[in-house]
Amino acid sequence: EKEGYDHFMIKEINEQATAVRNTLTQRENIENIIKDFDDITRICFVACGTSYHASLTGKYLIESLAGIPTDVILASEFKFSQKTLNENTLVIFISQSGETADSLKALDVANETSKTLGIVNVAGSSITRRAQYVIQTQAGPEIGVAATKTYVSQLTAIYLFAALMAKDENLLNELNNVPDFIDEVLKDVESIKSMSKRYNYAKDFFYLGRGYSYPTALEGALKLKEISYIHGEGYAAGELKHGPLALIDEGIPVVVVIPPGDSHKKTMSNLEEVKSRGARVLAFGAADDEELALKAPEVFKINPEVSEIIAPLVYIVPLQLLSYYITIEKGFDPDKPRNLAKCVTVE
Ligand code: F6R
Repeated sequence: EKEGYDHFMIKEINEQATAVRNTLTQRENIENIIKDFDDITRICFVACGTSYHASLTGKYLIESLAGIPTDVILASEFKFSQKTLNENTLVIFISQSGETADSLKALDVANETSKTLGIVNVAGSSITRRAQYVIQTQAGPEIGVAATKTYVSQLTAIYLFAALMAKDENLLNELNNVPDFIDEVLKDVESIKSMSKRYNYAKDFFYLGRGYSYPTALEGALKLKEISYIHGEGYAAGELKHGPLALIDEGIPVVVVIPPGDSHKKTMSNLEEVKSRGARVLAFGAADDEELALKAPEVFKINPEVSEIIAPLVYIVPLQLLSYYITIEKGFDPDKPRNLAKCVTVE
């Protein structure tokens, strides 16, 4: 079943362009669904783990493109927000399995007052049966415990949703390029392999990103923790000086997600901050970014056409690869991380 790959995780990482392409076919379905959402004045995402990170990206997209106030709530913390829901609230449940107990519990509550939409990968799962509206992500079965292709598929559905709500034709067009951008990243796997050999010694990693790249930093750090057992901490780049900068010292690897765009300049100054304190910076940025090439000792180069807004769909791929190869270097099985299950059916 692994079709020649060593692990399901690497097979699934390599299936991501297809997963995005297949999920883009949901456009018409999403167009039909949102016809019912004219009266929506607030959106709440409810999710856990990786699906929570996809939701955070959704908040940024929906608020900045469609101007609809949007919250992101961890399913396990949902009860505090219950009384704020009403008939003009749309509650979106993101889940690859469609069976996560905390999300299901919140869904039953939300169904009493509000419109509910599930963005789910597993057809016929509990969330698809109980949500009022469903968008099916088209990643195909995901066996590796660490979510990879389901994450980019969730993002694809969210981008379609936000772009259609905002009637943003430019973004809708840009999305069609994403599968090719992902495949380009996958061609450069050797760079990531050699990076993983140089950094697998680390006990701690930091991941920094700003704006659309902040959830990417969180997700990159989660992938590292769950399979390599290295402590990875994702941070909004601007929050660094409000505490964690105290932890930055000689030799600590800091992954900086820095695509071209509005937040580039500020993220660059954060990069310089950590570098001057001795951090080993691993930057993920545009291939033609000359300033980055000068300032960062190590840069993974991505097609410059990947703009800041679509970066979350592409920049996560090298971070998944980095976690995978570090895990291989350390001799652990990335498909079966200790203590974790693919589907969390207890609260
Ligand atoms: C991380 C991972 C978990 C899940 C979380 C939610 O790689 O897979 O963090 O994202 O348990 O699961 P779903 O999306 O099935 O609700």
